[in-house]
Amino acid sequence: MINKSIFDNYNGQEIYKYTLSDDKLQADVITFGATVTALRVNTGDKWVDVALGFKSVTDQIAKGDYMGAIAGRCANRIEDGKFTLNGVQYQLATNNGTNHLHGGMEGFDKKIYSDSTEEGKLLLRYYSKDGDQGYCGNVDFTVVYSVEDGALNIEYRAVSDKDTLFNVTNHLYFNLNGESDGSILDNMLSINADSYTPDRPNLIPTGELASVAGTPFDFTVFKAIGQDINADDEQLKIAGGFDHNFCLNSNHAATAYSVKTGIVMDVYTDLPGVQFYSGNFLSGNVGKSCYKRNSGFCLETQKYPNAINQPNFPSVVLKAGEKFVSKTSYKFTLRNK
Ligand code: GLA
Repeated sequence: MINKSIFDNYNGQEIYKYTLSDDKLQADVITFGATVTALRVNTGDKWVDVALGFKSVTDQIAKGDYMGAIAGRCANRIEDGKFTLNGVQYQLATNNGTNHLHGGMEGFDKKIYSDSTEEGKLLLRYYSKDGDQGYCGNVDFTVVYSVEDGALNIEYRAVSDKDTLFNVTNHLYFNLNGESDGSILDNMLSINADSYTPDRPNLIPTGELASVAGTPFDFTVFKAIGQDINADDEQLKIAGGFDHNFCLNSNHAATAYSVKTGIVMDVYTDLPGVQFYSGNFLSGNVGKSCYKRNSGFCLETQKYPNAINQPNFPSVVLKAGEKFVSKTSYKFTLRNK
C-alpha cells in the first residue's frame, strides 16, 4: 500500500511523505533528500520503529547526520575533494575538514525530489546539473523505493550526459531495539566480509585491503556491536569506533538482530562494499528521540570510499550514456526472543 500526505513546508515548497507498507513493515519516505524517516516493524504485539529520524526538514538539515537520506553523487569521502577524469582535474566542494563528504554542501540528501508512483513503488527523481557541487555532467537520478514481504527495497537508477563519478547510498541509522532505545552496543551484527579498508587519520582509506581475522573488525561470526568497540586498536581510535568500509564476500552483506525485540535485519546488495558506522559522531540531537553517540548504526552499501583516487578499488566512473542500476534491500523478520 502507498499513502501520500504532507510532511512539511520548506522554503515555500510542500514536502510530501509517502508511507509504503505491507503487513510486516511500514516505511515513511519524504521528498526532501529521498529520506526514510521511519521504518516500523510488526513484532506481532506492536510496531517498533527501528530507524532514527527527524520530524521536520529544518531539523534534518541542521542536525541530520544524513539520517535516512540519500548520500550522493558520491557517498563517503573523496580526499581533498580532488580527482582527475579523462585528463581534467576537478575540485569538488569540501565539507568535512579538507575532504568532500557525501556529495558536498548540498548533496543528494538536501535536494527536493519530484515524486510519482508506479506499480506500488515510489519513484523519487532529481536532475543534478553539470557543475552541481563541482561534479561534471548532467545526471538524471531516480531512487525507487518499495516495501515487499517485510523488506525495504531500494533501486538506484542514473544516467549522465558526460563521464562522471557516481556512487550513491542510503544513510539509514538503525537501532533494532527501537529508535528511542539510546544504544546499539547490544545489537548483534555479522558482516559477510573477510577484509576491510583501513583508514589514514583523515578517514581516507590507505588503499590496503586488510584481513579482518584476529581484529575487532571480524564480524564474520555474530557479536554485539559493543563487544570490541573500545579495544586497543589504531583503526578504532582513528574513527572513534567503527566507521569503515567492509569488502563484501557476496550479495548477502550483513545480518543484525536485537535480543530485546527479536527483530532481525538482513542486508542484500549488488554493490561491493558496506560502510559500517557505529554512530560515533551522534551528539545528542533531538529528532523523534534524543540521539547520542552510538544510538544508531549504519550499513551504507557502496563502492569503496575515495575510489576515484585509488586505482585498486572498483571504479566509480559512470560513462556518458551508460545506465547505472543498483539494488539494496533491508529485510526484516523475527526470531525467538
Ligand atoms: C559516514 C561517514 C562517517 C560520518 C557519517 C555522517 O558514515 O563515514 O564518518 O561522516 O557518514 O555523520
